[in-house]
Amino acid sequence: MNLKSKDVLGLKELSVEEIEHILNTAKTMKYILTSNNKKTPHLQGKSIITLFYENSTRTRLSFELASKYMSASAANVSASSSSVSKGETLIDTGKTIDMMGTDVIIIRHPMSGAPHLLAKNVKASVINAGDGMNEHPTQALLDMFTIQENKGSLKGLKIAIIGDILHSRVARSNIWGLTKMGAEVNVAGPSTLLPPGLEKTGIRVFNTIQEALLDADVVMGLRVQLERQKKGLFPTVREYARFFGLDDKRLKLAKEDALVMHPGPVNRGMELATAVMDGEQSVINEQVTNGVAVRMALLYLLTRRGSSENID
Ligand code: CP
Repeated sequence: MNLKSKDVLGLKELSVEEIEHILNTAKTMKYILTSNNKKTPHLQGKSIITLFYENSTRTRLSFELASKYMSASAANVSASSSSVSKGETLIDTGKTIDMMGTDVIIIRHPMSGAPHLLAKNVKASVINAGDGMNEHPTQALLDMFTIQENKGSLKGLKIAIIGDILHSRVARSNIWGLTKMGAEVNVAGPSTLLPPGLEKTGIRVFNTIQEALLDADVVMGLRVQLERQKKGLFPTVREYARFFGLDDKRLKLAKEDALVMHPGPVNRGMELATAVMDGEQSVINEQVTNGVAVRMALLYLLTRRGSSENID
């Protein structure tokens, strides 16, 4: 099976069959990733560029490692040290990268829609590595992969997403993906950090963390994006942790075997108490490993479009 589009811009655009195909391919990639010999020839002769206008540790590094493990030529363009800082437009930068024989451009940008604009103007495949407050599709795919690996299936699970929903592209991608895959999504956060109209997406919205956590199979904390906060959306970090932080006592409201997840980076003691973050139910470290497997799968699937070879 081939992905329909040359680009991966959001979970909104992917079908259930495409999501299942990516997750199945990631299973094979995880096997390779955790073996003694991580070098495969799947991307030999391909060129992958990461173009990041915002900081990143996990996403950028996992794409770079995924490219290298599969034998691609990989390079990074960082906005601060490239001609972007001289005022070059996104389209001109994209076309320049495209004309160097690039097969895949992975972009993170503070403006929602920037990857879509780039995708329309280049021949290379474009992967959205996070655009403003819109989507972070590869994060949601690795989250779904981690849940599926631990729980067998996503269908019928109750997933509680807690925190700053307003600014969270991770929440938005997960809401699209999880509801498509048959999971039930509860969200909770301060009312100032819950965008209006959320119920229309088929999820349940709560004003207290306790209501959202009840009988949850998975609890997903979100980073409070202190850099995107407008003054006054919540009183103080201490107040936030008091009403919406996940501690041991609150976690007991969820199912006994509930998974604790977080996309990272975590504001320790704010979204998650240290005991919960480092506790037995936490799969945050697994999420990091699975991020490489899912990104290997995406790079493989995008660069083999049109071929009949299958890996899953
Ligand atoms: N989860 C995530 O996107 O992390 P980075 O900002 O470190 O890439």
